[in-house]
Amino acid sequence: MTNHVAIVGAGVIGAGWATHFLAHGFSVTATDPGEGAQTRLREWIDDAWPAMERLGLANGASRDRLTFTNDIGAAVRDADFIQESGPERADVKRALIAGIEAAARDDVIIASSSSGLSISEIQAGAKHPERIVLGHPFNPSHIIPLVEVGGGKLTRAENIEKAMAFYLSTGKKVIRINTEVKGHIANRLQVALWQEAISLVQRGVASVEDIDTAIAWGPGLRWALLGPFLNLHASGGSGGITHVLRHLGPAQREWSRDLGTYPETDDYIESIASGVEKELQPHDFAEMLRQRDRLLIELMEAKRGLSQIP
Ligand SMILES: NC(=O)c1ccc[n+]([C@@H]2O[C@H](COP(=O)([O-])OP(=O)(O)OC[C@H]3O[C@@H](n4cnc5c(N)ncnc54)[C@H](O)[C@@H]3O)[C@@H](O)[C@H]2O)c1
Repeated sequence: MTNHVAIVGAGVIGAGWATHFLAHGFSVTATDPGEGAQTRLREWIDDAWPAMERLGLANGASRDRLTFTNDIGAAVRDADFIQESGPERADVKRALIAGIEAAARDDVIIASSSSGLSISEIQAGAKHPERIVLGHPFNPSHIIPLVEVGGGKLTRAENIEKAMAFYLSTGKKVIRINTEVKGHIANRLQVALWQEAISLVQRGVASVEDIDTAIAWGPGLRWALLGPFLNLHASGGSGGITHVLRHLGPAQREWSRDLGTYPETDDYIESIASGVEKELQPHDFAEMLRQRDRLLIELMEAKRGLSQIP
């Protein structure tokens, strides 16, 4: 039974994880050698706590159940689950794993939040590589439910299942990555969209603002409710996805041949950034983000109340 979670690395993502586990009633020990890390983490959790209260705290959930230590061994010694969210460098992650393994129980799962490194890279040289898994969250990780879970060449399948079951028990939505791929799954889907969005701006097809509008007031509204395949199925009427793919597939295949590729140099950045600046001119960006986060929580509350929304 998992009662105690260790958070190794308490930056943006580690702080989100700490908040998530505290809100779900766990005791949490965090470690981070950064200057002022403890104060920053406690302030971060205080700021995020009202959102967690609104989303619903588990029995016994309390910010008082957070402890902080500068000693990685002390942080992981009594842990039942370890979430590593240190800097995104393979050598640093491997050193962190060595520090964790020197003190943690041999059978405790170590989940890495890494966005871009493979678990096979991270687990190389570990004493017990079979318990090292990917547990990739999305920012803000105390609010967004998705966690992508997978293993490396040396991970035992049973430990992937255990990690998935654990995250699920804390209210996360979990998907399994069956084969290691660069960037995992959700970020690859995002890159496919960004690649084409950048290309459309470069080709002069539409402005940055209009492309943002196309998603945020168009298909993006549906994507937060059902995924791309179920939305496609819904577009097919009684014939569903089979009909729609037979009917529109050939045209989509044709369009796909015309899609842009990711720019090889950084020349494109200036035009995209100035488009964003123009789009933001009439707005207060800080307030925009506050409103977005409020809406995000309202959306999640609404989604939870609907029995047939997966
Ligand atoms: N930022 C995102 O949107 C995002 C999303 C998903 C996953 N991730 C992944 O999460 C991980 C952390 O990213 P972040 O954005 O929180 O970075 P960050 O720079 O905000 O945090 C990293 C933290 O690790 C600390 N650290 C450095 N050495 C350490 C050590 N020896 N022991 C413990 N802590 C140490 C740093 O002081 C820092 O606070 C990365 O692997 C990243 O790929 C990031």
